[in-house]
Amino acid sequence: MDQQLNIRTELEYGLFNNLRHGQYILGTEVFELEKQLARFIGVKHCISVGSGTDALLLSLLAADVSALDEVITSPFNFIAAAQMIAFIGAKPVFVDIDPETYNLDVNLLEAAITPQTRAIIPANLYGQCADYDSINAIAQTYRLMVIEDATQSFGARYKNRWSGSLTQMSCTGFTPSKPLGAYGDAGACFTNDDLLADKLRRLRVHGQKERYHHELIGINSRLDTIQANVLLAKLKIFPKEITARMEVGNRYTESLQNKVKTPVIQSYNQSCYSQYTIEVDERDLVRDKLAKRGIPTAVNYPLPLHLQPALSYLIQDKGSLPIAEAASKRVLSLPMDAYLTPEMQQEIIDAVKNAVK
Ligand SMILES: Cc1ncc(COP(=O)(O)O)c(C=O)c1O
Repeated sequence: MDQQLNIRTELEYGLFNNLRHGQYILGTEVFELEKQLARFIGVKHCISVGSGTDALLLSLLAADVSALDEVITSPFNFIAAAQMIAFIGAKPVFVDIDPETYNLDVNLLEAAITPQTRAIIPANLYGQCADYDSINAIAQTYRLMVIEDATQSFGARYKNRWSGSLTQMSCTGFTPSKPLGAYGDAGACFTNDDLLADKLRRLRVHGQKERYHHELIGINSRLDTIQANVLLAKLKIFPKEITARMEVGNRYTESLQNKVKTPVIQSYNQSCYSQYTIEVDERDLVRDKLAKRGIPTAVNYPLPLHLQPALSYLIQDKGSLPIAEAASKRVLSLPMDAYLTPEMQQEIIDAVKNAVK
């Protein structure tokens, strides 16, 4: 609500203008948003799509990943990347995570590469980027495509570069809960490569370049003009909101670091804190105590992907990815918002300190 007050005029102008011109699909605002998003992260092309999940699917199709190929990804993440790999008939191969950052452990990456490996999809969990210099170097050696999933990290920086600009192709989603969130589903792919960009633009409209002439197998995944208007309004205040999120994150860390395991942000990274996630013993008990004081929390994520029933056919047994499995039992995400006041935050901090006593 606080955010909406800041953008009310801009938002109403955009939405009413959209109602007046009536171009609800691929209206001019969609292309304006693509221009602004690409400029924001310093990449040549932005191809907006219907959701973060669609952005992952379309990136895999653009990279020519197909049935029986293998794609390395993180087991400790939202399921979208692994699911889209499986959806096209390829095999998700999970590599365990670094216990500090919860991102792919780059030291384990090479051992997972086989002749079938085509791509790597690192996740940037909770808003902190994975170690892309190392990942890109390994990928180059084995000629693999790296697709950055920036859905949790849009607004974060890695070695002074924006998340979304760190690999040959990247994806992001803009659901309402994300640091840059639309008022519904929305997503985007980014690339500096003209050929990939052209392919992605065709794939999002059933593989057609010209109307009713289909050169590729694609899907229907276009960003609504209404959502483009929302995102254009929000993008104006996004830099300020990223700074505010970082301040909220730093305040949490200063107050809680001696009580619980707080996020470890690498010196070369700036997290956008899509989640502020701590680790505690007896997580469910702590969660209940906080709920009783009216403090909502979330568990991102309670079951690693190799143990999800939908992916059980991969037969990666319990115990095979011990770091991801251990983290899934201990992580707890606290309320995180650019508009969390120091007073509201202090209440949460006091409640956490009490709950872990
Ligand atoms: C890392 C990651 N990738 C992809 C997605 C899927 O995005 P969407 O909900 O926009 O399809 C999510 C959703 O939360 C996510 O966290």
